[in-house]
Amino acid sequence: MRRFFERAMAKVPKMSDEQLRALLGAFAEENGRLEMALDSMLDGIIVCDKDHQPIIYNKTAERMLALTGITDPAERPLWYSISDRDFSDFFHETLESEDSILEREFDIVTGGRNRLIAASVMPLVAQGRIEGSLIHLEDITDKRKREAQLRRAESLASLTTLAAGVAHEIKNPLQSISIHIQLLQRAAKGKESVETAGLGHHLSIVTEEIERLNKIVVEFLFAVRPMGVELRDADVGAIVKELAAFIRYEAEEAGISVDLRIAEKLPRVLVDKRYMKQAILNLAQNALAAMGTGGALTFGVEGDENEVRISVEDTGTGISEASLPKIFEPYYTTKESGTGLGLTITFKIIREHQGEINVKSRQGHGSVFTISLPVPQKERKLLSWNDKDATARGEG
Ligand SMILES: Nc1ncnc2c1ncn2[C@@H]1O[C@H](COP(=O)(O)OP(=O)(O)OP(=O)(O)O)[C@@H](O)[C@H]1O
Ligand SMILES: [Mg+2]
Repeated sequence: MRRFFERAMAKVPKMSDEQLRALLGAFAEENGRLEMALDSMLDGIIVCDKDHQPIIYNKTAERMLALTGITDPAERPLWYSISDRDFSDFFHETLESEDSILEREFDIVTGGRNRLIAASVMPLVAQGRIEGSLIHLEDITDKRKREAQLRRAESLASLTTLAAGVAHEIKNPLQSISIHIQLLQRAAKGKESVETAGLGHHLSIVTEEIERLNKIVVEFLFAVRPMGVELRDADVGAIVKELAAFIRYEAEEAGISVDLRIAEKLPRVLVDKRYMKQAILNLAQNALAAMGTGGALTFGVEGDENEVRISVEDTGTGISEASLPKIFEPYYTTKESGTGLGLTITFKIIREHQGEINVKSRQGHGSVFTISLPVPQKERKLLSWNDKDATARGEG
């Protein structure tokens, strides 16, 4: 179509009035078709020129942003026409800084309903120059709801796996307890008094197995119970430091050095301290176990405007490719006294924080577990979070 117009434009000077009218008609018709296509889209589209003034926008965008007073679109920058404060500030910052932003989420009220809108902004580049920007708006309220439903279904499925696992795990200690009690009964049968030395062995096994049962049940409950995390604004660097101090003694006893690499300026994230400590502690304990004696345990914390990453790195045995996909599964363990719930619990905690956990491991060299926690929208919006931090520390 563009070709057609370009060719037509070249011929304009030689055209008769009638031909010109026909050309304009074709333009108008084409424009009408484009407008119709844009207006029937479920997503909002806005094109702004170099001065951030909206030159093209469809009905959905108009509705989502509750655009007000665009009588002459070429009159003022987009943000002046948006009534929602957060949205308006966001477009002001993003458009002026010519940033590319993907799927920034906003809670807004439109048509009396709460909606979650994801906004993306991309620069429009022509012949190597920025000629304006393209804004894409998507209503992701239903998508998020479906995701939440899926998560619930998923957690129900994992509950079933867990329950089956518990049943299986409980069988062995129960059987062992039963055997040793029978042996005790046999030893005591028909006797006035029995030698305690022989009984001690059976009793200590019974006690051990009961402890093991207890651990299985306690951890099972921990794994299945809704956690009820209470997310609060927190300094992850401080949490990791505290934890490193807590584990240092045990590590150094085993000849393992503990190093901290915590970035100076970190955005604050929403964390339930108690649970997050538990999650990192589980990783640290696995790391220590993988090293046995000697080695290095390194805690790292770094971040950018989107996420904060916490890493726990060891120089231990590493994880084989075959076991890597299984380590987060409940009851998967390669340890004699492990329950195999440590990483399951860690995974669950991180998910409750809307975060992610990843592993990189090389057998014989060691492993790195990395937790990524999202930086909340509000925090991201403070473009200069690092300046603010510097000021708070008296550096700015
Ligand atoms: N840092 C690591 N290095 C090597 N292997 C690891 C590491 N972390 C986890 N693993 C492997 O993953 C398995 C599962 O870990 P998980 O923490 O879930 O259970 P566990 O440590 O065996 O038992 P526990 O319930 O006591 O934590 C471990 O048994 C081990 O084989
Ligand atoms: Mg463990």
